Amino acid sequence: MSTQRAAVVSRAGEPPRVGDRAVPVAGEGELRVAVTAAPITPLDLLCASGTSYFGVPACPYVPGVQGVGLLEDGTPVWFPTDAGMKPGDGSMAEHAVVPADGVAPLPPDVDHRLVAALGLSAVAAWHALTDRGGLTAGEQVLVLGAGGVVGQAAIQVAKLHGARRVVAAARSTAAQERAHRAGADAVVAIHPDDDVTALARRLGDACDGPVDLVLDPVFGMPVAAALRTLCVGGRLVNLGSAAAETAPLDSATLRSRSLRVLGYTNNELSPAQKARTLSEIATHAAAGRLRVAYEEVPLEAATDAWQRQATGTVPGRIVLTI
Ligand SMILES: NC(=O)c1ccc[n+]([C@@H]2O[C@H](COP(=O)([O-])OP(=O)(O)OC[C@H]3O[C@@H](n4cnc5c(N)ncnc54)[C@H](OP(=O)(O)O)[C@@H]3O)[C@@H](O)[C@H]2O)c1
Repeated sequence: MSTQRAAVVSRAGEPPRVGDRAVPVAGEGELRVAVTAAPITPLDLLCASGTSYFGVPACPYVPGVQGVGLLEDGTPVWFPTDAGMKPGDGSMAEHAVVPADGVAPLPPDVDHRLVAALGLSAVAAWHALTDRGGLTAGEQVLVLGAGGVVGQAAIQVAKLHGARRVVAAARSTAAQERAHRAGADAVVAIHPDDDVTALARRLGDACDGPVDLVLDPVFGMPVAAALRTLCVGGRLVNLGSAAAETAPLDSATLRSRSLRVLGYTNNELSPAQKARTLSEIATHAAAGRLRVAYEEVPLEAATDAWQRQATGTVPGRIVLTI
């Protein structure tokens, strides 16, 4: 049995340690990928914690719900895995075995680390704005959590789809700078002592009239403030709860403007749909139209990188390189 280097979670709630693990063998309908880049995402941290709605993962396992690498014929691809959600290994290893129908071919010249950083967060931003949010050219969009990968991608995806103005909101100065770099027309600071009324006023001041669509990966207090910026019939799409699981929404705001509050999950997409959108995202990335802040860390340093990503203080997505 040949072995490879891999990050391995031995027990739920503990960070992975790097060690030797069997090289996986592809079965029918599967492909083996030589991994070049694997991001550490909120979903990886959640699954490995054992507190996700997928339950406690079967351990030991290699985490990593997505990655980038090369097929045996040298084709560069992005791929998803079920690591932490179902038994089996993921992307944080030298090799991964993945179902063939989920693999997305990439442009030959694209930066693997960038595609890994964008990954499913960018796919979520894309579909939440377009299919679920119904974004049309000329609309004004407000993006919460704008310093995260979903937020940075959403700013750029909204512009690619013809939004006339994108207003962003983020907490730290570093997160606000990432939103600026992503192309936001205005960036609003979210302060720790903000209440709904104060934040709603600042958001409204930064917007050019009522907002058509809010993209929300955070929920909690910020979403209640963002609702108050919407136009009559305005839409809000929630796709995460980075700030809180609940939010102080008020009925008067919802009903007085006939608002539509919607939810979004990538789980609704088929593997082929995810792969198609990822290929489109990678084409924009290769052309310089889509970028996101990331930090490159070698696989051997995965334990420390995992712990730093979990604190939420890193200046962008950590991407393990192999
Ligand atoms: N539904 C789906 O299919 C889907 C897909 C991908 C991601 N998500 C979810 O979307 C969320 C963001 O993902 P990501 O990839 O952008 O993560 P990320 O790059 O790690 O960024 C973390 C995000 O969380 C925000 N945040 C963290 N703690 C917060 C708090 N206490 N108050 C307010 N904001 C807080 C950050 O806001 P700042 O910008 O202000 O720092 C930042 O936007 C996660 O909850 C993730 O699980 C959902």
